[in-house]
Amino acid sequence: MNDALELLKSRRSIRKYKDQPVEEEKIQKCLEAASWAPSASNKQPWEFLIVTDKQVRKKLSETHPYAKFVAQSPVVFIPLTNPEVHQKYHMSDTALATLQYMIEAHSLGLGTCWAGVIGSSIELEIRKLLGIPDHLNVLGLVATGYADEKPTKTRKELDSLIHYEKY
Ligand SMILES: Cc1cc2nc3c(=O)[nH]c(=O)nc-3n(C[C@H](O)[C@H](O)[C@H](O)COP(=O)(O)O)c2cc1C
Repeated sequence: MNDALELLKSRRSIRKYKDQPVEEEKIQKCLEAASWAPSASNKQPWEFLIVTDKQVRKKLSETHPYAKFVAQSPVVFIPLTNPEVHQKYHMSDTALATLQYMIEAHSLGLGTCWAGVIGSSIELEIRKLLGIPDHLNVLGLVATGYADEKPTKTRKELDSLIHYEKY
């Protein structure tokens, strides 16, 4: 797929995964894509954690009421934000890196689903489970693997969102 809009529109959140391992090189590319996201003052206030261990994924799935699928996806990407690197933009910058990871994954034929974590009570539990230091925040859990479903989604009418020149 070489049209960016087509790629962006065809990405869907995937919550059912095949029991098929993901090639190491593909994950590496997704991580590289994440690291090339724009960030305020190019501070790159992020770190990335990859979890593949089945038992750990199962434990992770038990911490989150809406991310049961991380037990099934062979890979879980966990974007971590570092407010010490950029106090104001650590979250938005790391969200961009996460999206870049997801878009690259999609371009490589992989499905993903982002489950939000930051600011919720489960963040501490996940931090403990994975030994994540206190100065980093867990932005989310991003399931990654080969899709075993083809969901559809709609979007709000573009016209209802756009304003030209003045609101
Ligand atoms: C910050 C954030 C948090 C999300 N949290 C969850 C979640 O906890 N569980 C889940 O199944 N999907 C979660 N999603 C996925 C959204 O439900 C999904 O992106 C939305 O329904 C649009 O569908 P699409 O991604 O297929 O276009 C989250 C997405 C974002 C960006």
